[in-house]
Amino acid sequence: MKIHFFLLFIVALVSCTNINYKLLGNNMVLQRDSPYTKIWGVSDSQVVNIGLLRDGKLADSYDTKVIGKKWVINLKPYPSSGPYQIVVKTDETVSYDNVMFGDVYLCSGQSNMEMSVKLTDNSTAEIADSINYPNLRLFHVKHNQQDKPQDNVEGEWVQSSPSGLGGDWEAGFSAACYYFGREVYKSLDGKIPIGLIESNWGGTLVEAWMSPEALKACNDTIRGDGPNDQSHLWNGQIVPLLNYNIKAALWYQGEANVDFGGAQLYKCSFPSMITDWRKNWNIGNFPFYFVQLAGYAPQAERWSQLRLAQIEATKLSNVYFATAMDIGDPTDIHPRNKQEVGRRLSLIARNQIYGQPIAYKGPTLNSATVTFSQDGHLAFVNLNIDNVVGELLQFKTNKCTRCCSVGTLFSVVTNSRGAVAPLDVSVKGNRIVLFVERTSRDEVVRSVRYAMDAYAECVYRDGSTGLPMNTFEFQV
Ligand SMILES: *[C@@H]1O[C@H](CO)[C@@H](O)[C@H](O)[C@H]1NC(C)=O
Ligand SMILES: *[C@@H]1O[C@H](CO)[C@@H](O)[C@H](O)[C@H]1NC(C)=O
Repeated sequence: MKIHFFLLFIVALVSCTNINYKLLGNNMVLQRDSPYTKIWGVSDSQVVNIGLLRDGKLADSYDTKVIGKKWVINLKPYPSSGPYQIVVKTDETVSYDNVMFGDVYLCSGQSNMEMSVKLTDNSTAEIADSINYPNLRLFHVKHNQQDKPQDNVEGEWVQSSPSGLGGDWEAGFSAACYYFGREVYKSLDGKIPIGLIESNWGGTLVEAWMSPEALKACNDTIRGDGPNDQSHLWNGQIVPLLNYNIKAALWYQGEANVDFGGAQLYKCSFPSMITDWRKNWNIGNFPFYFVQLAGYAPQAERWSQLRLAQIEATKLSNVYFATAMDIGDPTDIHPRNKQEVGRRLSLIARNQIYGQPIAYKGPTLNSATVTFSQDGHLAFVNLNIDNVVGELLQFKTNKCTRCCSVGTLFSVVTNSRGAVAPLDVSVKGNRIVLFVERTSRDEVVRSVRYAMDAYAECVYRDGSTGLPMNTFEFQV
């Protein structure tokens, strides 16, 4: 009797050593066309064998010796294809079914990334429609804040479906991420499987997502409680993903940092996080696309200063952003039009990753020069705008209350009067001219600003692409 109990105990211990890495499972999408795609595990046996089966036939197999307990197998590059069954044989046999090779995207950030499809406009129809994209696959990383790096997460891969999109907030799938993935998937006629990994937490600071090294590079000492403590989400929700090869990362965060650390620190911490994630993933400088803060009226100018700080990250290679300032809600920090957020992110990927000849950048200031009228009474601020495809048109937001006086949109700062509104604005092609009255011949323009309100009304959009002109503050 005693001996039997002892044996049972041993058996239980042995099977416990094979950690079930949740990211590896049925329905997963593995990154295609890449030498960095891995299968990994923990085993007591000395050899691991992996078989890839297609239509029940063995397509490829891999072996590795186990050194210590952990093992990693790098797969050769596979084109977009599937479904495969992957059988892993160690001291036990595990099978992953319905596995596809395609492109994998990580979606991270705070509540505007976490906000689920169910909470967006037109959600009933959108959720019903999700059944049409079986090779759009979703993995929702469960909240997990930790003070030490982890190597596993909770969650499972599911096919796009009403039950996969689920409920509110954490009980549902990220709307910005899903709409991005759906638009990319549709633009490729459903031929390339798309995997979306959502790992986010509402209300969190960038510091929570940064490794200690990344924080140190900016002398960043900002810390909150629980999930907002330094590196807690890096430890719990990013480190366990580092073995999983991805095509690119998407990011929607920054609201929480407006009041903690602010724009000045964010200019260092955000790019530091990107660089550090890239270093730790060790798959090259993968593309990183982020959403700029949406319009939100209760906030002061520091909100738009954070928008400008976010753009600093585009100095890194392969970092682009989608503007959302014109699709915010003046009274709700969680705007419901996430379709357009996802669509704008998808334009970047469609152009940069898939080579589709489409516009993805909104009109952006290139340069500003100042000239004067002959009698000296007027200064002309000449703005040269890049990325103008159609006409620049002023767009009235649906909740606009003081449209569309020029003073709310542009201002110039002069040496003698501080900020002043231009008398008038003329727009022709990619040129905008501001007419500024001068009080004396000694008055000169120091800088020009556009859409620096937290919720800017009447912004310009490109009539052809629908993309808004980006906020700017430019020293002349
Ligand atoms: C609502 O969603 C459905 C399904 O995606 C779509 O066909 C329809 O055009 C959407 N309607 C609006 C008004 O966005
Ligand atoms: C961090 O602090 C060190 C020592 O005070 C300083 O040399 C370094 O320039 C600082 N780095 C940043 C990014 O502020």
